[in-house]
Amino acid sequence: MPIRIDSIAELRSHLAGHRLGGRRIAFVPTMGALHEGHLTLLDVARRHGDVVVMSVFVNPLQFGAGEDLDRYPRNIERDLELAGSRGADVVFTPTVPEMYGKGDEVRVVAGDLASRWEGAARPGHFDGVLTVVTKLFNIVQPDVACFGRKDLQQATLIARMIEQLDFPIELVVVPTVRDHDGLALSSRNAFLSDEERQVALRIPSALAAAAQDWLDGERDAARLGQRVAAVLAAGEGLSPDYIAVIDPVRLEPVQTAPVGTVIAVAARVGSTRLIDNIVLGEQDERCSAG
Ligand code: PAJ
Repeated sequence: MPIRIDSIAELRSHLAGHRLGGRRIAFVPTMGALHEGHLTLLDVARRHGDVVVMSVFVNPLQFGAGEDLDRYPRNIERDLELAGSRGADVVFTPTVPEMYGKGDEVRVVAGDLASRWEGAARPGHFDGVLTVVTKLFNIVQPDVACFGRKDLQQATLIARMIEQLDFPIELVVVPTVRDHDGLALSSRNAFLSDEERQVALRIPSALAAAAQDWLDGERDAARLGQRVAAVLAAGEGLSPDYIAVIDPVRLEPVQTAPVGTVIAVAARVGSTRLIDNIVLGEQDERCSAG
């Protein structure tokens, strides 16, 4: 089992010892309900550092009114076991008062990039993410931090924050890990009924269809987007929030789709909101199973 620490002061003094010993600290922030996606981030962190720290904290600041803060899955005992089995040395599990007891009126503002896509659908969400990640970076002071590409806009904003606020941290972005049926792993998949899960599979299918079109030579962004829309619309029960064909740096819509272009989708299945994306022309990007 990894060492579990819930106090900021205790974590700081524990990590100070490692830092004095010259060990590289690799950090994986999460909200728990761990799945293979999170655990793959731990594998990557292990390769980049000598000490692997994972945080498990459901951050109220990044949930809007009416979002799923209260029903967000929590199971710390299981998380500790899984994290330990994949090489986490320390799991930081602060309470809300430990993190925000001193107040929370000072925020890190995400800026223009957050006005689109997830940011438009979830006002204030990315300010909440960047604020908690800043606090976690200041507490852990990692040499390297690992984030998943499943949350592409989040990873992009973290990259900008590290650069623009001069955090001395190396960022590693890890490709999306999928379930055997192609669905991108997410803690929110636990909310899906069997029937809803079948419906949700149209998301990776739609991305895979567009990726195939791209491989067959289609470079027109509008047509790639239409292809995604058509597959998503082939049945009941799924309402798309956005289908974005965007450049991977600024996340702005493109007209033609060179290699590296991203197709990002958000859609609601029942009461669950899911996101997924694919990078066109990338070898390891496959939305189909296997
Ligand atoms: P959470 O949703 O728990 O995700 C933690 C990390 O795991 C994020 O970097 C996310 O992109 C990554 N991840 C999730 N599903 C993945 C998958 N299928 N494949 C690869 N990586 C995946 O993202 C958050 O928590 C929070 O916003 C956080 C950064 C912890 C701040 O509160």
